Amino acid sequence: MNLKNIDPRAHIIESQQFDEDFLREMFDVTKYMRNNETQLKDIMKDRHVTLLFYETSTRTRFSFEIAAQRLGASTTMTESATEFSSVSKGETLEDTIRVVSGYTDFIVMRHFEDNAAEQAHAISQVPIINAGSGKSQHPTQALLDVYTIYDHFNKTENLNITVVGDLARGRTVKSLVYLMAKFPNNVFHFVAPDNSRIDQGIKDYLSEHNAEYHETDNLNDTLKVSDIVYMTRVQKERFGKNPKKLTEEEETEYTRARDMYKIDKNNVNLIRKNGILLHPLPRVVEISSEIDHDHRAQYFKQARNGLHVRMALFKMMNDYNYGTK
Ligand code: NCD
Repeated sequence: MNLKNIDPRAHIIESQQFDEDFLREMFDVTKYMRNNETQLKDIMKDRHVTLLFYETSTRTRFSFEIAAQRLGASTTMTESATEFSSVSKGETLEDTIRVVSGYTDFIVMRHFEDNAAEQAHAISQVPIINAGSGKSQHPTQALLDVYTIYDHFNKTENLNITVVGDLARGRTVKSLVYLMAKFPNNVFHFVAPDNSRIDQGIKDYLSEHNAEYHETDNLNDTLKVSDIVYMTRVQKERFGKNPKKLTEEEETEYTRARDMYKIDKNNVNLIRKNGILLHPLPRVVEISSEIDHDHRAQYFKQARNGLHVRMALFKMMNDYNYGTK
C-alpha cells in the first residue's frame, strides 16, 4: 500500500505523507488555534471523537482529547484498550475498528503493533489518526516537533539536527527524521548506544533524499554543531526478547544504554546559544531537571504546542472529510 498517496487530511498514518503544502497550512492554522484557543467551540460542534489507546500515554492522549473538546466535539476514550475493550475477549483490531468507526467521526489510536494504524485505516469508515504505532511511527508528534522548530527558527531547512538515545525502538525519532529530511540541507547526527542504533531503512531513505547524516558516539562534540538536540529515553517496554521479563544480562544492558547520554549543567552550554533542546517526554534520566530553566530547554513548550497542533489537525481533517473548505 502506498500511503504517500493518501492525503493526511483523510487519515494520518505516517510522516512520509506530509508535504510542504500541508505543513504551511498546519503552521498557520496552529498559530490561529494558539491565539483563539477558547473561542472555537463551533468548529467541531456535533462531531464525536473516539480515542482508542492500547498503550499508555499522558501528553498525546490528553492533548488530543482536550483539542477535540476545545473545538466543541464530544469524546469517548479507552485508555487501556487491551484490558477494557473486547480485545480482552479475543476480538481482532479489524473487528474493533469496523464497529467503532460506525459510531464516531474520528478515531485516534495508539497501538503496540508497528503496522496497526495502516491496518485500521484500510477498514475504517472514518478518519484514523495514528497516535503512536509500536516502534515504527508517531506522526503527530513529528508535527508538533517540527512546529516547535519552525516557531523558534522561523525555518525548517539548513539545520543541524542531533537525535540522541533509543534510535532503534523510539518511534518519535523515526517520524521526525522522515519529516525533516523533506527540507533542503538539513544535516542529521545520530548518537546512540550500540544496541539502539538507527535502522538501515532510515539511512537508506536519507541517502535517497540526498540528506547528509553522521553516526557518532561522541555527544559533547556533536552538541557544539547542533541547532536542535532531540533527546529520547531508552524504551524499556520494547527492550530485550521479552520486555516484560528482562534477563539479568538484558537488565544490565538496558541500564548501561539508559545512562549513556545525558544533558545536564556540565554540557548544556555546549549547545549553540540559539539552539534548542527538545524531548518528546516522558524523560527518565537523559535530561537533568537542573537545566529546565535554561533558555534552550523547550520540551515543556513543545508539549504545549501539541495541543494547538492537534487542534489544527482536527480542523483540517474535519473540513476535508465533513466539508466546510
Ligand atoms: C513518546 C511515545 O509514546 O512514543 N511519548 C509521547 O507521545 N510524547 C515517547 C516515549 O514514550 O518515549
